[in-house]
Amino acid sequence: MEKTANRRTFAIISHPDAGKTTLTEKLLLLGGSIRSAGTVKGKKSGKFATSDWMEIEKQRGISVTSSVMQLNYNGVHINILDTPGHEDFSEDTYRTLTAVDTAVMVIDSVKGIEAQTLKLFKVCRMRGIPILTFINKLDREGREPLDLLTEIEETLEMETYPMNWPVGMGKTLRGVYSRADETIESFQEGDEGDERQTFQIDDPEAPLTDADREALDEDIMLIDEAGNDFDREKVQKGKMTPVFFGSALANFGVQSFLDHFVDLALSPQPRRSTSGEISPDDDRFSGFIFKIQANMNPAHRDRIAFLRVCSGTFERGIDIELSRTGKRMKLNQSQQFFASDRDTVEKAYPGDIIGLYDTGTFQVGDTLVTGNDSFHYEEMPQFPPEQFAKVTAKHALKHKQFHKGMDQLVQEGTIQLYRTPYFDDYIVGAVGELQFQVFEYRMKNEYKVDIEFQPYSHEIARWVTGGTITDKMTDQRRMLVHDHKDRPVILFENEFVLTMFQQKFPEIELSSGWGML
Ligand code: G4P
Repeated sequence: MEKTANRRTFAIISHPDAGKTTLTEKLLLLGGSIRSAGTVKGKKSGKFATSDWMEIEKQRGISVTSSVMQLNYNGVHINILDTPGHEDFSEDTYRTLTAVDTAVMVIDSVKGIEAQTLKLFKVCRMRGIPILTFINKLDREGREPLDLLTEIEETLEMETYPMNWPVGMGKTLRGVYSRADETIESFQEGDEGDERQTFQIDDPEAPLTDADREALDEDIMLIDEAGNDFDREKVQKGKMTPVFFGSALANFGVQSFLDHFVDLALSPQPRRSTSGEISPDDDRFSGFIFKIQANMNPAHRDRIAFLRVCSGTFERGIDIELSRTGKRMKLNQSQQFFASDRDTVEKAYPGDIIGLYDTGTFQVGDTLVTGNDSFHYEEMPQFPPEQFAKVTAKHALKHKQFHKGMDQLVQEGTIQLYRTPYFDDYIVGAVGELQFQVFEYRMKNEYKVDIEFQPYSHEIARWVTGGTITDKMTDQRRMLVHDHKDRPVILFENEFVLTMFQQKFPEIELSSGWGML
């Protein structure tokens, strides 16, 4: 029980370049998990060059070893799950968000909310998890703090509560004011956070000019009077986001962020299942698989299935049932991920992530549970793909292998499959380009089939959740297909075609993903 209460599992949602890696690194430094900066990112420094993982992984710098990181801070065990972005953005990025209890939204103070943040935010909102916001790069001339808060409130429809408030910004950044302690954490250009000082607000020694004080007084009055009242319950339901201003690079405001994070982030909570809510303190070990990463090295066909522990205690060699098939098995080969080490896990608790060697047994969304009354956790949502292509086998004679590979990779969750009516064409859908590449590679290496893609210009998929689609409603630009569970989906060429469709056929209800709001 104590183990559960002392665990926090979170992911960072942000747009590339907002500072996710830099912040992660500073948090790991604070927890003593790494000793020097530059350890987390393999991409630029090439530190993961020795990784024996898949070819694509190497080329792209994504690594299974950096997928889950841990730190201990003030007796709290924190798991950080990586959410790959850039060209590595894929359904796995979304799925990772189903395995966390809290999200940290990192926003670049110069740019505000960007596209990828918004996409990831929607998944967090669907789950109603707390979202803490870190507005980064305060050492740059960014947008006005109030302007950024308004943008969050309006775009994300979520209340904000600034936990601290900047005094100046960019070249004139003096520090941040903590609303809870009424203190100023001072900032000096070029400092790395080693000799940072904190002053009481009325301390004449505080490095503020009269003009700074005046501006701060005005700002505080404004946010106190016109702003929202802090409401912990709203925060924990994801209806209000506590906002922190700081600079990850200058390690400024990061420690106070972490102090509040430990307090505000949720410990593992009960999760819905086919047997009702399962408490993390339930004696039975249970968990679900949220991601499967294949090893692209043909000599090592194994995969790693990422399991989030939801209840009980995992012990190596534990006897479980795979709910989907009823098959019982022992979990002997398990590992924990951290930086370049891959330790064998002996024990894990709710909130922890373990990697299971998989030879094709698991699928994304699978529930594993001990005991005889197995159950399923909620189905993994199907996230909206944004790229589509018709796929065929290069050599017609390979059609048997082609169908087998398609079937298995779709089941496993590598890519989404749609079929057209009448012609029964195979259309694959993906959230990001990487999924196509992984799919192509695995078809060739594991099933010995060369495939050909014929890209479609469609960008949007909408599941039909109400009304009846007739022939006259669809054409090439709004194409009717069925997903692998035979649910009708319309692929729209762009936002405009979608809007026109909605205006013309208001009786048809559309949803942006299965299981998504
Ligand atoms: P990401 O993981 O979200 O993609 O972002 P990352 O941390 O890699 O940061 C992106 C760029 O922004 C990096 O610069 C990083 O140094 C910079 N950065 C992060 N936090 C801050 C901050 O608080 N202030 C300022 N001024 N810059 C910040 P880069 O030049 O692209 O990369 P690098 O060569 O320095 O690693």
